[in-house]
Amino acid sequence: MLSEQAQDAGQHSTAGQRYCIGIVGAGSVGCYLGAHLCQDNALDVKFFGRETMALELAAHGLSVTSFDHHTYFAQPVAFYSSLNSLIECDVVLLTVKATALVPMLTQLKRFLRPEVPVVAMQNGIGIGEMLNQDLANPVLRAIVPFNVVKNRAGQFHRASAGAVVWQQNNHSAVNYVIQAFKQFKLPVQLCADITAAEYGKLLLNLNNALNAISDLPLLQQLLDRKWRLLLAAAMQEWLYICSKAGVKPLAYTPLPNALLPWFLRLPTALFRHAAGSLLAIDEQARSSMSDDIRSHKRTEIMFLNGAVVRMAQLHQITAPVNSLLVEQIKRLESGEAALPIDELLRQAGLKV
Ligand SMILES: NC(=O)c1ccc[n+]([C@@H]2O[C@H](COP(=O)([O-])OP(=O)(O)OC[C@H]3O[C@@H](n4cnc5c(N)ncnc54)[C@H](OP(=O)(O)O)[C@@H]3O)[C@@H](O)[C@H]2O)c1
Repeated sequence: MLSEQAQDAGQHSTAGQRYCIGIVGAGSVGCYLGAHLCQDNALDVKFFGRETMALELAAHGLSVTSFDHHTYFAQPVAFYSSLNSLIECDVVLLTVKATALVPMLTQLKRFLRPEVPVVAMQNGIGIGEMLNQDLANPVLRAIVPFNVVKNRAGQFHRASAGAVVWQQNNHSAVNYVIQAFKQFKLPVQLCADITAAEYGKLLLNLNNALNAISDLPLLQQLLDRKWRLLLAAAMQEWLYICSKAGVKPLAYTPLPNALLPWFLRLPTALFRHAAGSLLAIDEQARSSMSDDIRSHKRTEIMFLNGAVVRMAQLHQITAPVNSLLVEQIKRLESGEAALPIDELLRQAGLKV
């Protein structure tokens, strides 16, 4: 029987039905989202991930906190380091990094019932197409606009605002999940044009590579006009490609997307003043790509700046700044140093 709270949440649920939700790739995003769903007694939430995460959650429990002071505890959680129990799931939230998708596909095909919707929550573009090519299941996209960081063992913190942008769909189990998120104070915005949402998020994610190349904390990097000039140029390339593709990218900041490059080029004192609360970032925070480089992991570069280069080729234009950034990340991934900022600006043809 559904709890009273769950009945409110589940506009689309059928009384008596207990949906089983699989969080596949339980890391920062997966644990953060999954802990919200655990608050709904009408959901059976199963976390799938690494043995190390299973041990961490068993020892410390799972809790989430948020910049807007919501705290939830979800313990004990059902955590699986093998994917066999995927067969029970009615919806999958796929929260591995984009680089882990290909090996994950074989597993999904092996264990998932074919009618079960898979919601891909990665940053980057080309994800839905890639999954659709290999998977018989319905594939949906959702874009997470905020940052989630692990504060300490078992505790995941949402560091910024924004609603999860979720592809409109008519899968009742998925819509139940969306209502449950809303019920437990995680905003969700339904979106008919998910391509616009993906393209808009990519515009912001172009800085992930620059942050990794700079090897600086995010705040320090953004307060250096030289790095902002490069970011503005990378954004300009992507906005031009979007216009060629006939896509108007969704704006995730109060400024219209077209003004972002102009805004970034402002002198630092003006930029700092105008950016105001946008710069309310932890002084030590870095992009996840920077973390990946530091942990010697493969980055998501080919789904971000690499996708810009690929799309440019498709439209028979070039994206030299994004190509330069991809090259630098490849160097870092193979243990070499990236070029210094002045040389990057010179190669990009930018004057300070
Ligand atoms: N974190 C954020 O703030 C944020 C915000 C917006 C969007 N995103 C996007 O969300 C996606 C997930 O990011 P995240 O930060 O949550 O990544 P994450 O913390 O690395 O979580 C992914 C987890 O999945 C595990 N995994 C990978 N392959 C697996 C497999 N075959 N079986 C079991 N577990 C597996 C990973 O383990 P290993 O590390 O051992 O492989 C990791 O624990 C990315 O595309 C990212 O761009 C993240």
